[in-house]
Amino acid sequence: MKVKLLSGALGAEISGIDLKDSSKENYKKINNLLLEHKVIFFRNQDISHEEQIALAQNWGPLENHAYVKGLDKHPEIVRIVKTKEEKNQWGENWHTDVSYNVKPTKAVILKSIKIPPVGGDTCFSNMELAWETLDESIKEKIKDKEAIHSSLGAEFFIDNYKGMTGHEKRNYDEYSNEHPIVRTHPETAKKILYVNWTYTKKIIGLEKEESDEILKKIFEHQARLDLTCRFNWTENAVAIWDNRSVLHYAIADFYPGRGLGHERIMDRIAIEGDQPH
Ligand code: SIN
Repeated sequence: MKVKLLSGALGAEISGIDLKDSSKENYKKINNLLLEHKVIFFRNQDISHEEQIALAQNWGPLENHAYVKGLDKHPEIVRIVKTKEEKNQWGENWHTDVSYNVKPTKAVILKSIKIPPVGGDTCFSNMELAWETLDESIKEKIKDKEAIHSSLGAEFFIDNYKGMTGHEKRNYDEYSNEHPIVRTHPETAKKILYVNWTYTKKIIGLEKEESDEILKKIFEHQARLDLTCRFNWTENAVAIWDNRSVLHYAIADFYPGRGLGHERIMDRIAIEGDQPH
């Protein structure tokens, strides 16, 4: 097995592991790499839907997305599609998946099906490092506080993406939950800065103005390039990320003559998490 670090902050590309092997031994090896690097990447993994599901089930029960319809035969696989002429794509802002749920996603396994010749990389940011490097005066203000995470607008948002399909019976519910701003990782006991630009709306116990000001500073801090890594996709590549300790951002850099005019298709499986504490 070879491990090539993607940046000084997080992420590693792994070779010499076969993701068709969903045995407990292989899972343990992969999960240890995941806990160490927070997001891991594998190339040339021509795994079937069933193999992707079997691998994911090692981490626990799989999630069905509240708003996006899964594949007919495999509802737990969400197909992320950017059609040829679309400039935008799903996931194009810093976020952690479904943090508006009581128990947000533990981990995600994303496999590339079709990749444009250029554009559409995915960035990840390390929220353990984000907490460690956060300004001390902000840390003092937020360390025991909770924030509201809301899915407000997420259902309507799907309509902005031509290739994405909502459930047949449309779900327009808003999910809103409160989570500690600094959560503790259930497996490593590390502290993690747990807010994100897309879903975190307000710090509880602060006036809106002060909450907005602090959240703005935190969101800028989380996007610092020295906390990130960036993965350039090829077909049949797989990313596995620890959704508790990273943010991610699918870059929609599709401009005429440079990525526009090509599809980008990914298959995503999410594993249920626990309640942040
Ligand atoms: C996402 O889950 O936000 C999508 C990531 C990607 O398509 O690269």
